[in-house]
Amino acid sequence: MRESSSLTRFGVSMDDQLLKSFDELIIEKGYKNRSEAVRDLVREVLVKETWNDKDQLVAGSIQIFYDHHQRGLIENLTSIQHDYHHMVLATTHIHLDNHNCLEMIVVKGKANELQQLSNQLLSIKGVNYGNFSVTPIVVK
Ligand code: NI
Repeated sequence: MRESSSLTRFGVSMDDQLLKSFDELIIEKGYKNRSEAVRDLVREVLVKETWNDKDQLVAGSIQIFYDHHQRGLIENLTSIQHDYHHMVLATTHIHLDNHNCLEMIVVKGKANELQQLSNQLLSIKGVNYGNFSVTPIVVK
């Protein structure tokens, strides 16, 4: 996302109930103020919007947490990454304790194809938690 070098202030009208809920969300998420929260929400929407453009180039990472004792999981994980080898830039594996592993996969490619890769990885049996985080690569 292109960063702006100047800030512009603008007013937002909102009904009391919606604003109350928003303020609760701000506290819950740990934002310092409403402006920071609004900026983050707008960025999130804009990133989501790029998913509509199937050719949009994006880069980021897929994180998955799993128990490596789960039968067949490692094989599945490796096999899927090989299927998408042209989009996988690097993989880092961290042994968190005797059972739990964290695998961080750095990816670059078309938004919709990476979404497919992420869906496949996160749906492997035994994956406890996954996170898919990418941002558009803006051509200047
Ligand atoms: Ni491990």
